[in-house]
Amino acid sequence: MSFEDDFGPFDGRVWINCAHQGALPKRAVEAAHEAISWKISPHHLMTSERFNEVPRNLKRALGRLVGAPPENIILGNSASYGLHLMANGFPWREGDEVLLIRGDFPSVILPWLGLERRGVCVRQLEPDGDGFGPDQLERHITPKTRVLCTTWVHSFTGRALDIDALGDVCRRHGVRFIINAAQALGTRPFDVSLAPIDGLSSVGFKWLCGPYGTGFCWIEPELRESLEYNQAYWLAMQTADDLAKENPTIALRDDLGARAYDVFGTANFFNFKPWTASVEYILEQGIDRIAAHDGALVDRLIEGLLSLGFEVLSPHRGKSRSNIVITSHPDRSRNERIHAALRDNDIYIAFRRGNLRFAPHLYNTKEDIDSALGVLEKLG
Ligand SMILES: Cc1ncc(COP(=O)(O)O)c(C=O)c1O
Repeated sequence: MSFEDDFGPFDGRVWINCAHQGALPKRAVEAAHEAISWKISPHHLMTSERFNEVPRNLKRALGRLVGAPPENIILGNSASYGLHLMANGFPWREGDEVLLIRGDFPSVILPWLGLERRGVCVRQLEPDGDGFGPDQLERHITPKTRVLCTTWVHSFTGRALDIDALGDVCRRHGVRFIINAAQALGTRPFDVSLAPIDGLSSVGFKWLCGPYGTGFCWIEPELRESLEYNQAYWLAMQTADDLAKENPTIALRDDLGARAYDVFGTANFFNFKPWTASVEYILEQGIDRIAAHDGALVDRLIEGLLSLGFEVLSPHRGKSRSNIVITSHPDRSRNERIHAALRDNDIYIAFRRGNLRFAPHLYNTKEDIDSALGVLEKLG
């Protein structure tokens, strides 16, 4: 069975813009309805058991997705949440430095900038024409470098960095490697227990097909335990049932592990229940199968664009290619009007930094790609 039957209805519209928002699978829509029903009739549906199960089930699904024990998953509401946690909690010493890549997505740059006030040097390295590779990193690491933080798949170039190669350099120099996987997770297999990384943060609302306002992070346990971060959410420190006690103890716990850093409102059932259903759906379908489907769509799209004379600015093949295809009419000034014309034909893509951005995912079909190419062909 094809994936598209599990999504929509799209009513004849074509959404090739997963890099902005992924569509919600039908199964997640049902889960969202169920979550709403709990709130409509809290007297018999909003049980403590359900409340407790929401984060537990989500962590289990996310743990399976990235090869981590569920208890090492930290629930968030964005990619920014996990990146702020790692930036602010890192045990910095005066003069330490963090390396970033200039032109990275704002979520990855901004969390570190405020550290300059704490005497941390934030260096933004210039990517070369081909992105950023291990040789370049090797040249920039100094004895003061503590962290490299970068986005895996870049939103505006579509380029996937070589995480293994960059991570190996970091490992050799004792530098912690933190990645933003917002535009990659859900499109390709990834295992944090095998990858040379120390931290990963991601959104849930793009390629993981969850609601907006979802995200998570994983931090290598030793690094996590070394964080100096003042967070003490009452529902992590005690349980709602403790409120019934006459003299409950209110004290900090230091045995919580990753749970200590879950975003407040951990049982956010409107969002987390459907997101769990989305991640479970993706796991059931198999990331490899999804990657093969998406890869075939990207092949078809790139081939079609090139044959129409469009420039394809994102990598065409190999490990650096992603599900994000950045393209331009040879006359760049026409891109904005082309974007509008596609929209007038019910085909939704993104217009970013003067270029056209396509981002197909499992719910898209080859007919979707052909419809978009057909409109481009007519525009001439
Ligand atoms: C590479 C990348 N990182 C992160 C985000 C979103 O970050 P946040 O969840 O912090 O809003 C986006 C897009 O919205 C993105 O393209």
